[in-house]
Amino acid sequence: MRLNLRALAATAVYAVLEQGQSLSSALPEQQRLLPNPKDKALLAELCYGVMRVLPQLDQCISACLNKPFKGKQRIIHQLLLLGCYQLYFTRIPAHAAISETAEACRQLGRESLVKVVNGVLRNIQRQQQPLSEANDTLKYNFPAWIIKKLQVAYPAQWPQIVENSQQRPPMWLRNNRQQQSREQYLQRLQQQAIEATAGNSDDAIMLSSPVDVAQLPDFGVGAVSVQDGAAQWAAQLLDAQAGELVLDACAAPGGKSCHILERTPGIRLVAVDNDSKRLERVNQNLQRLGLDAQLFVGDAAAIDSWWQGPQFDRILLDAPCSATGVIRRHPDIKWLRKAADIAELSHLQAQILDHCWQWLKPGGILLYATCSIMPEENHQQIAAFLARTADAELQAITASQENCSPDWQILPGQDNMDGFYYAKLQKNNTA
Ligand SMILES: C[S@@+](CC[C@H](N)C(=O)[O-])C[C@H]1O[C@@H](n2cnc3c(N)ncnc32)[C@H](O)[C@@H]1O
Repeated sequence: MRLNLRALAATAVYAVLEQGQSLSSALPEQQRLLPNPKDKALLAELCYGVMRVLPQLDQCISACLNKPFKGKQRIIHQLLLLGCYQLYFTRIPAHAAISETAEACRQLGRESLVKVVNGVLRNIQRQQQPLSEANDTLKYNFPAWIIKKLQVAYPAQWPQIVENSQQRPPMWLRNNRQQQSREQYLQRLQQQAIEATAGNSDDAIMLSSPVDVAQLPDFGVGAVSVQDGAAQWAAQLLDAQAGELVLDACAAPGGKSCHILERTPGIRLVAVDNDSKRLERVNQNLQRLGLDAQLFVGDAAAIDSWWQGPQFDRILLDAPCSATGVIRRHPDIKWLRKAADIAELSHLQAQILDHCWQWLKPGGILLYATCSIMPEENHQQIAAFLARTADAELQAITASQENCSPDWQILPGQDNMDGFYYAKLQKNNTA
């Protein structure tokens, strides 16, 4: 039997909330089962929507149940979250939302709970109570531990950061300058009635509203790629030159590797990632764009184990991080990350950074990047590195006039970009 859209959505939400999978891996598994693109889009909207406002939905559902669902029955809790989301946040007629959600309950093999699902959702619809804002978690739909950390790190800006992280992000493109200038591509978009503007970095284009990539002129032959404006600063700040040996130390899925090569032909790029499946995506991206790099599955904290060549002229270290800067794109991060992850990640980042530094030529540049907004992973990480590394010097990044620190913390929503962090480190010749 083919499951209906709500049953597929509940399966994806269950995989995230109960099994710790990311939505970007759980969702496509279910989307594959829907032939119609509109249905795929609705499935995504429901799953992403639930992740955005989970605490309020959770509170609303829990208040309607005498006892919580446990174990495998939790999928019915997730189904109710989806039902509640449809009633509060979509224009789907209430009768359709309720009957489709109840039908999903039956299809998920929980015939005995169909009446409960129906009853709870009808109750919510009848009462039409505003969703609770009784504490900060409910008011902002953010975990308390992240709010607390943001309040300490950004006493004035945290409410804006939280609000921006709840917004739907714009779609950004990276112009492939090997194929056309940004001006030329902007004109092609205009001819297709796709409204777009140039971003602050050299190749960035921001669309006024998202479109299916199939609608983008020559997307299939690599004229543009989808990449947030903040991530596009990496290649520009790294500023690799033709003939240089460059390491992309945490490369998958390869957006920044491709940009480095598009910007400057003649770079010898080595791209490594310790996740072989993700590295396959680097390969696919390079192929689509007709680019070439040497790929390794390996540990960036043990370069000697897979690389026998010389030290590198430049290294991009786009470190594994909490991804707290990209919550607007991946709202499931709010529920997948735990407070203890930040210290663990910061330790891992320090290990990789120290090791990569040994593989940088004297005079070389290492660009450290994360899509985090946590100081422990960013400014504090680099301050500690500079304190323990005699031959390291921080070069000032002057990409934004608002930035008065040599490193650069981009906050979510700033110039419509994701939250991101950059520090440009030079290795002195005389250590
Ligand atoms: C932020 S993502 C990189 C995104 C990539 N630079 C891009 O622009 O497409 C971090 C990557 O680091 C990889 N990673 C984590 N620990 C690693 C390690 N010890 N060595 C190499 N790669 C690692 C992860 O598999 C993940 O693909």
